[in-house]
Order: sequence, then structure tokens, then C-alpha cells
Amino acid sequence: MDRICVYPGSFDPVTLGHEDIIRRAARLFDHVIVAVMHNPSKRGCFSVEARRVLLEKVVADLPNVTVDAWDGLLVDYVRRVNAAAVVRGLRAVSDFENEMVMAQVNSHLLPGMETVFLMTRPEHSCISSSVVREAALFQADVSGFVPACIAADVQEHFNQE
Ligand code: COA
Repeated sequence: MDRICVYPGSFDPVTLGHEDIIRRAARLFDHVIVAVMHNPSKRGCFSVEARRVLLEKVVADLPNVTVDAWDGLLVDYVRRVNAAAVVRGLRAVSDFENEMVMAQVNSHLLPGMETVFLMTRPEHSCISSSVVREAALFQADVSGFVPACIAADVQEHFNQE
């Protein structure tokens, strides 16, 4: 049976750090589903459809990775796709507290659900989607923060605003 993992996030937009986690997860699991999800405490910038399109470009060369979107609870999605685990990236100690709470809440809601943490590479630890959004808003070069294949699309999004 294939071992599936779900990599959830808001991906608003996908960054080099996210891409690195996706590629590493693709080597650890038979199949990775990158799931664009809703974080109720965040107002989105890119539409869910736009985030999906960007992610699909980034994973185009990875045959065992698919992109999906889900508007509900993470545990319901995990149950639905019968995933063996959820993957999350950890950038710094500051990520740890939230991630631990989220993993514990999820395992309370779905007993047996495992969350696997991958350490972000040091060169990506300062990158976040909000850094990308702010840099692009002020027309800075975002090519050091997002995968090369989507840098122009991200910039274009802000040029049109
Ligand atoms: N490299 C670079 N940046 C990274 C990163 C990495 N490896 N991993 C995370 N980040 C950044 C993201 O860019 C994002 O930056 P931002 O805050 O500036 O936008 C931030 O870290 C965290 O984003 P993300 O990993 O996308 O998580 P999130 O906190 O936005 O969303 C969900 C988390 C969507 C998985 C969570 O809210 C969820 O499960 N929602 C569904 C409802 C649910 O089940 N809730 C829990 C139980 S009640």
C-alpha cells in the first residue's frame, strides 16, 4: 500500500522553503499531497486557485506529488485521503510552539494521526510568504525567495494591483 503524506499550508504564495520541504518529503513518502488550506486567522492575498496554479508549476517535475485544496479541517482531509502522516517544516524555535499545539490538537481530533517535522534548511529560515508579499509589493526582486519558475508570476500579481 502506498504511504501517502499530506503537506498542508496556506502557501500564499509558495516559497523556496516550501519547495525544499516538498522535494524532501517526496523522497520519504510514496506520494505527497500538497494541500492548500485555510488558516482562519489569516486574510489571503492570492486566491486559492492562484496558489494552486503556482504550486502546480513548482512540482511539475515530481511525478509523486499532487496539489489539492481543502476548505475544512486538516484531520478530515487526512482521513479522506487515508494519509499515513502530515508533514510540516520547522524554521526556528519560534515555529515550534504553534506546531506542537497544532500536532497535539490534530492527534486529539484524529487519534493515531502522525505529524512529521522536517527542519528547514538554514538558507531558507528567514523566508516566509509574508516576506515575499511585502518584497513584491514594493517591487523588490523576489527571485531569492520563491522558485525561479514562479518569480515572474508573483511579481506580475502585484504589478496588476
Ligand atoms: N520555508 C519557508 N517558509 C515557511 C516554511 C518553510 N519550510 N514553512 C512555513 N513557512 C512559512 C509560511 O510561508 C507562512 O508564512 P506567513 O505566515 O508569512 O504567511 C508561515 O510559515 C506559516 O505558514 P503555513 O506553513 O502555510 O501554515 P499556516 O499557519 O498558514 O497554515 C494550516 C496552517 C493551514 C495547515 C492550518 O491552519 C490548518 O490546518 N488549517 C485547517 C483548519 C484546521 O484543521 N485547524 C487545526 C485544528 S482546529
